Amino acid sequence: MSLDHLFDIASAASRATNGTISIRRPDDWHIHLRDGAMLRAVLPFTEAQFARGIIMPNLVPPITTAAEATAYRDRILSARAPGSDFKPLMTCYLTDDARPDELERGFVEGIWVAAKLYPAGATTNAHSGVSDLKRIDPVLDRMERLGMPLLVHGESTDPQVDIFDREAVFIENALIPLMARHQGLKIVFEHATTVEAVDVVSSHAPRLAATITPHHLVINRTSLFQGGLRPHLYCLPVAKRERHRLALRRAITSGAECFFIGTDTAPHPRNRKQADCCSAGVFAGATALQTYVQVFDEEGALDRFEAFAALNGPKFYGLPVNAGTITLERKPSRVAAAVAVDDDEVVVFRGGESLPWSIAGIAP
Ligand code: NCD
Ligand code: ZN
Repeated sequence: MSLDHLFDIASAASRATNGTISIRRPDDWHIHLRDGAMLRAVLPFTEAQFARGIIMPNLVPPITTAAEATAYRDRILSARAPGSDFKPLMTCYLTDDARPDELERGFVEGIWVAAKLYPAGATTNAHSGVSDLKRIDPVLDRMERLGMPLLVHGESTDPQVDIFDREAVFIENALIPLMARHQGLKIVFEHATTVEAVDVVSSHAPRLAATITPHHLVINRTSLFQGGLRPHLYCLPVAKRERHRLALRRAITSGAECFFIGTDTAPHPRNRKQADCCSAGVFAGATALQTYVQVFDEEGALDRFEAFAALNGPKFYGLPVNAGTITLERKPSRVAAAVAVDDDEVVVFRGGESLPWSIAGIAP
């Protein structure tokens, strides 16, 4: 499917016919790499774009101990291509039984850099998540003391709440009270999709920040139904109305330091997407930078792209910026439509389309 209809909405004024931009090597602060054959199939796309990545822990079973995180990190490292310097930054999956001492040990020993809060049942592999936020108050107290960031999947799990309202309801009912209970806790509101998220993050920065995906910048909820039902565009949080998409584009191009890349690249085999009950997740990793840079170009904000892609994230996490640069070029390119995994395949977001931007090269 072509997303050209939405790109056409954006200003054509800044579209020149050629041009390049070189920025510090960027990072992806929200990645699902999975494991096994899927890990080996998708990692090449991420390591071709990003120097580091925050690795989501929602495997089955989830990564809840420092030992499991170490083993998973080793599997990722050994799946890297020869010569790759991609650095996985591990996270801990919080459950009702999370133990403050284990969180602290993994953080102090440098095994993980953050913990992920999935409200129980909120998304793919979130069934072991937290059923009541108050249960993990001792864990959050400890993280606050350590300066260890909490990464939040911010959606209400109340089945009575309309799916398009779940982010806004979570912000009101869960995030704001949580921030009041833990006033020093650093939080990343992951994959922000609404005006409400942009507003709450902007007004609570710098202790609160947000990742924004490529797909939520270029699709809205109508795209999910363009000509029929589009399972490969279905993810959680689900894409919202056009006014929310426009707010996300304004947020990332505003120059505010509280927004950074998080592709939420979330591969699922085609048979899990084209199914009676389609799994949530978009495989956005293979075309992420091409999409982000296109959005900055369309918004006339290429001068602000480097901060969003490579500076704001490290600053929030207290990590150095990467050495080396990546060069992007306003020259059409195409990524494969799908990637083989075992006897199935994963459909690539914007795969097979002519993309106006391409990756020209990386200098270490
Ligand atoms: C993610 C996945 O598949 O693991 N799915 C998604 O729709 N984004 C989980 C998540 O980040 O919600
Ligand atoms: Zn995710």
